Amino acid sequence: MTGKYQFLKQHLRSSPSTWLVTGVAGFIGSNLLETLLKLDQKVVGLDNFSTGFWHNLDEVRSVVGEDRWRQFSLIEGDIRTLDTCRKACRNIDYVLHQAALGSVPRSIEDPINTNQSNVSGFLNMLVAARDANVKRFVYAASSSTYGDHPGLPKVEGSIGSPLSPYAVTKLVNELYADVFARVYNIQAIGLRYFNIFGKRQDPNGVYAAVIPKWFAGLIKGENVFINGDGETSRDFCYIDNAVQANLLAATTENDDATNQVYNVAFGERTSLNELYSMIRQKVVVSLPEVNEIEPVYRDFRSGDVRHSLADISKAVTYLGYAPQFSISDGLDKVAEWYLKNLG
Ligand SMILES: NC(=O)c1ccc[n+]([C@@H]2O[C@H](COP(=O)([O-])OP(=O)(O)OC[C@H]3O[C@@H](n4cnc5c(N)ncnc54)[C@H](O)[C@@H]3O)[C@@H](O)[C@H]2O)c1
Repeated sequence: MTGKYQFLKQHLRSSPSTWLVTGVAGFIGSNLLETLLKLDQKVVGLDNFSTGFWHNLDEVRSVVGEDRWRQFSLIEGDIRTLDTCRKACRNIDYVLHQAALGSVPRSIEDPINTNQSNVSGFLNMLVAARDANVKRFVYAASSSTYGDHPGLPKVEGSIGSPLSPYAVTKLVNELYADVFARVYNIQAIGLRYFNIFGKRQDPNGVYAAVIPKWFAGLIKGENVFINGDGETSRDFCYIDNAVQANLLAATTENDDATNQVYNVAFGERTSLNELYSMIRQKVVVSLPEVNEIEPVYRDFRSGDVRHSLADISKAVTYLGYAPQFSISDGLDKVAEWYLKNLG
């Protein structure tokens, strides 16, 4: 049931707030922007366009229309600069902090830059949000924080040791948010995203995530690679579920729900072999020749965890999270988008 979220959307429409979305030109940020503008909210965006794109913002503009687009203002800037964060947090009700350098392999190649955006930039944002007295600071945490913990499904209270520099940065985010809550009474909520996918997720470059990369590969008739034996599994989660979690986390009035971290996932495990079949099936509907394309298996990738599956009951109980889209629903939607944009 989507009761709580439906109610929240109606409430937001009738009494709009001002939101800051960092990383607004990226995949998740631009989807948050689109939903917020459709709900007639005022949005400030901050991005340095390191991995985000102007064309993501252009697409949101064309989807929401000019009237709603006027409710958006962009700060082109970097969270590594405290003054920029302070400027962005001015008169903000809710912060949805998404800006970071994603990707486990990128962090293995370049731990210093990853740390600067993900740890120093995060700390700047926390300080700026604290000093601006925002109502809530919601931030993108990560399932990579579970590291080498063998338990499945993953439960928020039981984490292992990080397996990559990226995972270290996301764990540090949680530690800082927790300390800021204790020491300065800031209200923070971390959302541990599990392999979010959806429109505007970048299919290009060596650090692209698996779902956009495979759609692009199949649509363009290129080789599609599976790292390892294909039995590695993930809890893939469609973007609209993650957007829902952000809005619920930002606005919850349940005191027990704040200063916590939550798994944000669908709650189902899919192996890479299964995922490949599903994606191919979605593409074959428009491009029948894709039926013949088999994946190419290669070595396991360092820093990757073998299996991932979330227990989402904490978010369900405390936030009223009710993911509306299964992996198959999400792949249907995203297939349409990739076929239109890459076909
Ligand atoms: N996509 C996922 O499955 C997933 C999973 C776990 C966590 N996350 C986290 O969610 C957040 C959003 O990820 P995404 O998939 O949308 O990635 P993305 O790369 O599409 O978006 C990140 C955005 O942040 C911006 N950015 C990066 N460094 C910046 C800086 N120093 N200053 C200002 N802007 C900066 C980029 O230009 C980009 O627009 C990140 O924090 C990421 O670590 C994502």
